[in-house]
Amino acid sequence: MDEIDLNSGALAPVTQEMDLIALRVTGKIPDDLNGMLVRNGPNPLSGRFEGVGLDSWWPEAAMLHAITFDSGRVVGYRNRWLRTQRWARTYSPGNESSCLETNPNINVISHAGEIYALAEGGAPLTISATLDTLGGANQLAGFAAGMTGHPKIDHSTGELVTFRADWKQPYLRYGVIDNLGQLVVDTEIEMPSPSMMHDMAITETHSIFLDLNVGYDFSMLGRGHRLPLRWRDEHCARLGVIPRQGGDVRWFEISPCCILHVVNAFNEDEKTIVLDVVRYPWFMRMISCGESFDANPAAVLWRYRIDVTSGIVHEAPVCDYAMEFPRVNEKLTGRPYRYVYAVEQPTLVELRGIIRYDWHSGTIARYVVPPGDHNSEPVFVPRQGAETEDDGWLLCCVYRQLTDTSDVVVLDARNIASGPVATVHLPTRIPAGFHGAWLSS
Ligand SMILES: [Fe+2]
Repeated sequence: MDEIDLNSGALAPVTQEMDLIALRVTGKIPDDLNGMLVRNGPNPLSGRFEGVGLDSWWPEAAMLHAITFDSGRVVGYRNRWLRTQRWARTYSPGNESSCLETNPNINVISHAGEIYALAEGGAPLTISATLDTLGGANQLAGFAAGMTGHPKIDHSTGELVTFRADWKQPYLRYGVIDNLGQLVVDTEIEMPSPSMMHDMAITETHSIFLDLNVGYDFSMLGRGHRLPLRWRDEHCARLGVIPRQGGDVRWFEISPCCILHVVNAFNEDEKTIVLDVVRYPWFMRMISCGESFDANPAAVLWRYRIDVTSGIVHEAPVCDYAMEFPRVNEKLTGRPYRYVYAVEQPTLVELRGIIRYDWHSGTIARYVVPPGDHNSEPVFVPRQGAETEDDGWLLCCVYRQLTDTSDVVVLDARNIASGPVATVHLPTRIPAGFHGAWLSS
């Protein structure tokens, strides 16, 4: 991994938990923005990262950040570490047994009346709307012991579709939890070897697994690497399509790649599945006889069209802009949709600016963020009574280098180029992290 100073700028951790009120606001917060933006990410318990690479950043302790809005005003900001055994060893010695050994620092979702913090394959935790850790995710039944950080919720049916990819047998497990929180599908998927799967996709009728070129190599741990993952030229990249309610998986070969994040997928017609992603031509590729990693390339928006009758997959880039952390109006997860919202990557080491891509017109709109600043993913919040897909707000945490603090910006999703309609100025940082959610009140 490239050497990165993890203890300065946007990545720098915070050292304490806070509750802040009376926050300064520029502009006008929409009256219908009622709820909470929650963002998850790594923040070491010591308040300081050890190491100088991204593999020293990803595994650190989960910290949630939340900013709450109500009737045109901002109520406050709060951050909390999740109460894991790792947390207890530092802050509550002797009480480790009352916490779970997990570190769900990837994502946050709400399903069937519960809020979950999600890990990369580890056990999720149930949290409260005040960011208190409530315990294990028992409602997730067979997936309470571990699942992806990127399950999909079908907002038409209320189903949660999930998987667990593991380095040990069974290598892949697939599940569906219905709108009442009942596990209705739980099945093992046969795999020849373990595969690093970070995300998945759903359509109305099928779910899609990504078995790609980044996989496990445990010899790396003995060579000083913190994660046993690397690019595998020898692996055949493929997409696995399974009926939503379980059944046989059909695998479709694609060109070598790494996909961290799915944009969306849908059934184009009875025989064609469209899968949109941001795709890397390669990722975590080793150089110098396996001692170090090459610099990762940028990811671009990419479309697969899977003909499930002929077995042929057409794939192609969509536009040249480098981007990551794609989001959509999640009411359309698994359905035909028009707009992609993502973080722009102006250089390989920057996540700065928001892109909106319109599939109908093929046009890009951009919210430009100045050099030195950094922003997290744009979370779409539909306006109350919205009648069009893009009638809503994009919420995004923006780190400001000049003040070493963060803003939370509210953009009109229909017109991001004109800048925020409202900006909440925090007197602290929200360090760069992973994913989050809008939890409507
Ligand atoms: Fe992710």
